[in-house]
Amino acid sequence: MSHDTPGPTATAATSQQGDALENLLHENRKFAPSADFAANAVVGAEVYAEADADRPAFWAKQARELLTWNKDFTQALDWSNPPFAKWFVGGQVNAAYNALDRHVENGLGDRVAIYFEGEPGDSRAYTYAELTEEVKKAANAFESLGVAKGDRVAVYLPMIPEAVITLLACARIGAVHSVVFGGFSSDALRSRIEDAQAKLVVTADGTYRRGKPSALKSAVDQALATDGHSVQNVVVVKRNGQDVDWHEGRDHWWADTVEAASAEHTAVGHDSEHPLFILYTSGTTGKPKGILHTTGGFLTQTAYTHKAVFDLHPETDVYWCTADVGWVTGHSYVAYAPLINGATQVMYEGTPDSPHQGRWWEIVQKYKVSILYTAPTAIRTFMKWGRDIPDKYDLSSIRVLGSVGEPINPEAWMWYRDVIGGNKAPIVDTWWQTETGAQMIAPLPGVTETKPGSAQVPLPGIAVDVVDENGASVPNGHGGFLVIREPWPAMLRGIWGDPERFKETYWSRFETMYFAGDGAKKDEDGDIWLLGRVDDVMNISGHRLSTTEIESALVSHPAVAEAAVVGAADETTGQAVVAFVILRGDAVDSGDEIVQDLRNHVGKEIGPIAKPKIVLVVPELPKTRSGKIMRRLLKDVAEGRAVGDATTLADNTVMAQIAASLKK
Ligand code: PRX
Repeated sequence: MSHDTPGPTATAATSQQGDALENLLHENRKFAPSADFAANAVVGAEVYAEADADRPAFWAKQARELLTWNKDFTQALDWSNPPFAKWFVGGQVNAAYNALDRHVENGLGDRVAIYFEGEPGDSRAYTYAELTEEVKKAANAFESLGVAKGDRVAVYLPMIPEAVITLLACARIGAVHSVVFGGFSSDALRSRIEDAQAKLVVTADGTYRRGKPSALKSAVDQALATDGHSVQNVVVVKRNGQDVDWHEGRDHWWADTVEAASAEHTAVGHDSEHPLFILYTSGTTGKPKGILHTTGGFLTQTAYTHKAVFDLHPETDVYWCTADVGWVTGHSYVAYAPLINGATQVMYEGTPDSPHQGRWWEIVQKYKVSILYTAPTAIRTFMKWGRDIPDKYDLSSIRVLGSVGEPINPEAWMWYRDVIGGNKAPIVDTWWQTETGAQMIAPLPGVTETKPGSAQVPLPGIAVDVVDENGASVPNGHGGFLVIREPWPAMLRGIWGDPERFKETYWSRFETMYFAGDGAKKDEDGDIWLLGRVDDVMNISGHRLSTTEIESALVSHPAVAEAAVVGAADETTGQAVVAFVILRGDAVDSGDEIVQDLRNHVGKEIGPIAKPKIVLVVPELPKTRSGKIMRRLLKDVAEGRAVGDATTLADNTVMAQIAASLKK
C-alpha cells in the first residue's frame, strides 16, 4: 500500500550524519510502486531468488544478455586466489563496440545517444551513428599518436561529449584511461600522470564555469613543465577559444587529429579482465589510490544495474545523470552503462545556477528527461533556493529519480519526491563506491517499497552485510560496519601498481570480506541505512577527500607546523572541511590573510574542491599519549558541540587552550 503522507511516527532529521540517523530507524513512511509502474517494470521481484540460487550463474546470464561477446567466456567467476577475482574467464569483448557499433548494426543509428547542453547555451546532439563515427576517428587518431593496447591515457576534460568520445576510443583500442577531474590542480594531475605513466593527455583549452571561461590546458602545461614525465603527446579540444601556450610537436588540436582521422576502425575483442580504466580516489593516507577496473565484469554490472535500478526503457526514456565524468558516477553511468543499454542521455557542462537557478529544470523540460540521477547535495541546494524555481517548469516527464554519493536525509528525500518527482516518481537511493564500480545497494523501483533516507536492499547478485567488529552479522535494529561477503562483477581488481595495498586496505579488517569503510545500520525491516565513513575519508558534496591528504597539503606550507583536518556536518554539502593549524614559531598570525593564503595553498596542491571552508589557527592540537590526533574532539569543536570525553589526552589543558584561542 502506498502512503503519500508521512506516517505518525516519522521522525524529522536535520542532518544526514550518523547521530541523527540513529533516530531514524523508526521511519514509517513507505512508498510502494504504483500498480502501473510495477506492471511495466523491466525487472520484477523474481530476480532476487534467481540470483540467490546461483550468483555467478545469474551474472553470467546478464553478461550474455546485455553484451555482445567476440568470444564467449568459459567460466563465470574464478575466485581461486582471493581477493583477486576474475569474471567471465576466457571471454573477449569490446566496450566501444557494445556501446556503439552494435546499436547502429541493429538499426538504431538514428537514435540520439547524447543531447549535449553547454553552459553558455550551445547545444549539440549525437545520434548513435554519429557518436560511433567520432569514436572510430578518435581511436584512429590516438593510435596514430602511438597509443597501443595497455598504454595509459590521462583525460583532463570538462563535461563535453569529447570526454565520452575519448573514454570510448581508449576502450576501443584497449588503452587504459585515467580521468582526472577538471577541478583538481596541476600538482594533483602530475602525480596521477606519473603514477599511471600516461603516454597521452587529452584536455581542452578550457570550459565555462558560472558564466565565465575557465582554463584547463594551462594546468596540463604546468603539470608537464619539468622533464622526466611519461607524456609524449597532448590532444586539445577547442572549447572556449581562449589563448593557450603551445608546445610544437607535443600538442595537437582535436580538430586536426581526431576530426581529420579516418572513420573506419574495426573493434577487436579484449579479454574480459583487460584493464579498462584507472580512477584515483582518496583513501585514508595522503596518496590517492589508482582504482583499477577491468572490462567484462564492469560492463555487465553497470549495464544491468542501470537497466534494473532506473527501470530503463531505452526506446522512450531520456536519462540524465548530472555527475561529472571526472568521478566514478560519470564513468559507470554516463560514459558506459547508458550507451551499452542504447539509451538517450543528456549531458550538461555547467553548474546548476548558470545563468539562473532554474537551469536544470529548464533542461528537464526541454529534453523531457524521464530519469534523473543526482546527488543529495544538489537536492539540498535546490531546497535552499526554494520550490518556486522548479515549480515554474514542466517536470511531468520525470518517472524515476536517483540519488548517489552520500546519505540522503529524509527531508531532502521527501522534497525530491514531492517537488521534482510530482509525488509519484520512485526514488532509488543507490549506495556504491569508486571501488565497487557499480551500484550495490538500492531499491528496485518496480518492486521495493521505498523509504526516505535508506538505500535499503542489496541488489540481486550482491552479498552486502552489516557486521560487528568481529565480523558477525548484526541482527535487525543494530549497527556496524558495511561489508561485502562475495565477489561481484564490477569490483575493483586492485590498486594500480600496489597489490599489497589493495589487500591491506579492503581485505584485512575482516578476513574474506571486503570492508567498504562505511558504517551502516539494519532497521527493524532489515533495510540498510548508510551512516557515513568510519575512517578518515570525508564526503564533501558527494566528493571524496581524505583528511590526511589535506593535512599533508597544509603542512607543506612554510608557515604551518602542524595541521589536523575534520569533516564537519554541513547543511548543504553534507560535510565541510575544517582545518586546525598550528603556525611555526617564526610565522606571523596575520588573521584573515594567513587563512586565505592557506586555503589557496590547498587549492593549488589538490584543487579548489579541497579548500577548507574554515581554517582555525590554534596553539595546540589534542593528542593521545601515543601522539595520535583526537579528531573526534576537533569535530565537536567544529560542529559547535560540547567537547566529548577527553580523558585520554596527553595534555588535558589543550581543549581549553583551543577554546580560548577561538574566542579571541
Ligand atoms: O561513504 C559512501 C558514500 O560515498 C562513498 C564512495 O565515494 P566515491 O568512491 O567517491 O563514490 C561516490 C559515488 C558512487 C561511500 O563509501 N556514498 C555513496 N553513495 C551513497 C553513499 N553514502 C550513503 N548513501 C549513498 N547512496
